[in-house]
Amino acid sequence: MARAKSSYVCNQCGYESPKWTGKCPECGQWNSLEKSEVQPKTTRIQKSSLKTPQLISDNQTAPQSRLISGIREFDRVMGGGIFHASVNLVAGDPGIGKSTLLLQIAGALVKKGITVIYVSAEESFWQIKNRAQRLELDNLDIPVLVETELENILYHTGQVNPQIVVVDSIQAIYSQNIAGAPGNVSQIRECSSQLFREAKEKGWSLFLVGHITKEGNIAGPKLLEHMVDVVIYFEGDTFNQYRILRSLKNRFGPAQEIGLFLMEKDGLKEVTNPSHLFISEQSANRVGSSVVCSFQGSRPILAEIQALVARSNYGVPQRTVSGFDQRKLALLLANFEKHCGLNFSYYDVFVKIAGGLRIDDPAIDLGISAAIYSSYLNQPLNDQAVYIGEIGLNGQVRSVSQLEKRVEEAMRLGFHSVYLPAWEDLKISIKADFKLLPLKNISELLKAK
Ligand code: TYD
Ligand code: MG
Repeated sequence: MARAKSSYVCNQCGYESPKWTGKCPECGQWNSLEKSEVQPKTTRIQKSSLKTPQLISDNQTAPQSRLISGIREFDRVMGGGIFHASVNLVAGDPGIGKSTLLLQIAGALVKKGITVIYVSAEESFWQIKNRAQRLELDNLDIPVLVETELENILYHTGQVNPQIVVVDSIQAIYSQNIAGAPGNVSQIRECSSQLFREAKEKGWSLFLVGHITKEGNIAGPKLLEHMVDVVIYFEGDTFNQYRILRSLKNRFGPAQEIGLFLMEKDGLKEVTNPSHLFISEQSANRVGSSVVCSFQGSRPILAEIQALVARSNYGVPQRTVSGFDQRKLALLLANFEKHCGLNFSYYDVFVKIAGGLRIDDPAIDLGISAAIYSSYLNQPLNDQAVYIGEIGLNGQVRSVSQLEKRVEEAMRLGFHSVYLPAWEDLKISIKADFKLLPLKNISELLKAK
């Protein structure tokens, strides 16, 4: 028998090298190369298993393409349901609710007569049954397999022939044929590729649960994210109830789509009106607070920005943000200085997006600037207005995508006006009492207040 081949694989990018080095030559990460031993496979071609090319125009065997769970926030993130024979990675911090979400999805699918198998490699049967009782799913026939060994998992899936397989989690399963403990890079790589192959061949859809590291990456090789069809993150902080399901990659639908849930004592509840949720905490005193409209996937969502500008006690003033990129704050403050003559060098500036939401949309620039300015002056903003616009390096208020839909969302939620980039020709009907307040550049914001 041929000897096992050993090589070193980077646990960040999947780069493979015959020798160990301290720094990965591909991604530059230090101390990320791990030893991997793989049994060489025979390269002889077996004629019986050879595949022939198929024509795209050939439409004789189209499988039913999507399975709908009925949990709408989840189905939308998946691009309209679970795609046939797809491989989906659900990643998130420990304790965020991944197992709860997948058990609820499994329950919803079983209710619709879809065959599911839930493989638990981390928890005992009783822990899962206990969770099912909490979720009031304990009267359903959800098959749970408590197993960590890949070969046994594949044996069971071969017997049951399911439509959906959930593996919770990929870091906890291992194969007898690979050296090393569960969770090491070669185990993750080999176990996942065998599961992928089986899913594609047998036509079941696979859900892999993946933990994320302190740095926010999925533990294990980055390769996993490249291989799978869909990567969804389950986010939120354990101190509040909001949970956001976000698609980072989706081969069958739009990426950056989000689904919103509240984690309650009896499971995850869908949030169908997110704008209400994120601006519901508005207070009457709106010093340093503005409302913005961001686009998440296909949906406009209103959110509240809170800023605090205070005299600094240190030589170097503090700049702290939460929910968006710190560099955006530096840029907006530089804009105030250059185009409005305001100087923040003696002020600490703290800005956050309320509710633990994370927004990368440039359309919130104007709202962030307004909140900072309001806190700086210690004067409240117009609490009936929504701020929409990107700020350019020349201080200009720039146009943003989907402007009409954002304005419509502001109207729908009962706001009275919207600050927006000037000279925009809106092709929507505006309510008689709703005001459009165009701004050309950031200095006009100071007058507009
Ligand atoms: P869990 O699904 O075990 O998280 P993960 O699989 O991502 O590690 O959920 C863990 C947390 O969710 C736990 O702290 C308890 C809480 N929880 C609720 O608040 N309500 C519920 O109905 C359930 C099942 C869990
Ligand atoms: Mg879990």
